[in-house]
Amino acid sequence: MLDIFFAPLQGYTDDVYRRVHYKLIGGVKNYYTPFVRVEAGAVRSKDQRDIAPENNTGVPVVPQIIFNSRKEFDYLVSRIKCLGYNEIDLNMGCPFPLQARHGRGCGILAHPDIVSEIIEGIKENKEITFSVKMRLGWDNSNECDSIIELLNNVQLRHITVHPRTGVQQYKGNVDHDAFKRVYAQSSNPIIYNGDILTLDDIKRIENIFPNMKGIMLGRGLLGAPSLAVEYADNKEWNNRERIALMLKIHDTLMAEYSKILKGDTQMLNKMRTFWEYAEELLGRKPYKKVIKSGNLKNYLAAVAELKYL
Ligand SMILES: Cc1cc2nc3c(=O)[nH]c(=O)nc-3n(C[C@H](O)[C@H](O)[C@H](O)COP(=O)(O)O)c2cc1C
Repeated sequence: MLDIFFAPLQGYTDDVYRRVHYKLIGGVKNYYTPFVRVEAGAVRSKDQRDIAPENNTGVPVVPQIIFNSRKEFDYLVSRIKCLGYNEIDLNMGCPFPLQARHGRGCGILAHPDIVSEIIEGIKENKEITFSVKMRLGWDNSNECDSIIELLNNVQLRHITVHPRTGVQQYKGNVDHDAFKRVYAQSSNPIIYNGDILTLDDIKRIENIFPNMKGIMLGRGLLGAPSLAVEYADNKEWNNRERIALMLKIHDTLMAEYSKILKGDTQMLNKMRTFWEYAEELLGRKPYKKVIKSGNLKNYLAAVAELKYL
């Protein structure tokens, strides 16, 4: 049985969502926070709230950082250490051009010299367990080879590999051959991530790579929050059960977000994202009705109808 990890998704898996998912269904070993970064010499207040211990009490959360230098790495690690965390995930996979073009995320994969400096930083922070989340490269799927060799010099909890390049973003096929290569080359445990949407998808990957440490699920869990539990119980839920859980999570999220968001528009924008990966589950028409509802009143009416699906 593989461990299942909840991928970080900026704008979706914030502290509120993680708390509610953990309380109402769980089944995942760890939740990774969307990346924390340095902006104007400090951690953004939005990121501070997301990783604040009081907002993550009892939830097995691992903060993730993104950086383009040893200086940024040192600053972010020290800030997170102060909060009492003893584990940090290093983002070497983000494909967003705003980050990658500045040498952050998968932009760092073309700079083995900087990765070597980061490895020194990992070794110096003995009290922290580090993991890495990476892609194959920016525009070249061999870029990861030299990085994996470098990372073999340090003990990591694991390396999560999303087998695409940065220029692919989230489109095109995942490259299983390249993943196989990384998996064979790495002395650190490997976790697979990418396009796993169903219980069958999990089992298929498990069969191909039986010695892998785990699977990280992102959009699959957003669209079917019970997926990790379905895997643990080896029992697929039907659409009715899945929609009932989505509605339960939805109502709890509404109650939580209404404490921190102001006004109908903010609320509508936030809550709509909750359904974004659920088109398959809801069916095209009900999905469109929810997503294109236009105002909070129409939105709530469209959501209320989902219980009759
Ligand atoms: C909107 C969005 C935001 C994301 N934010 C992050 C992030 O903050 N950190 C990170 O490592 N990956 C991030 N990712 C990548 C996901 O963690 C994951 O690797 C990707 O969605 C592929 O996995 P999936 O097919 O299971 O969703 C993001 C992806 C999307 C679509």
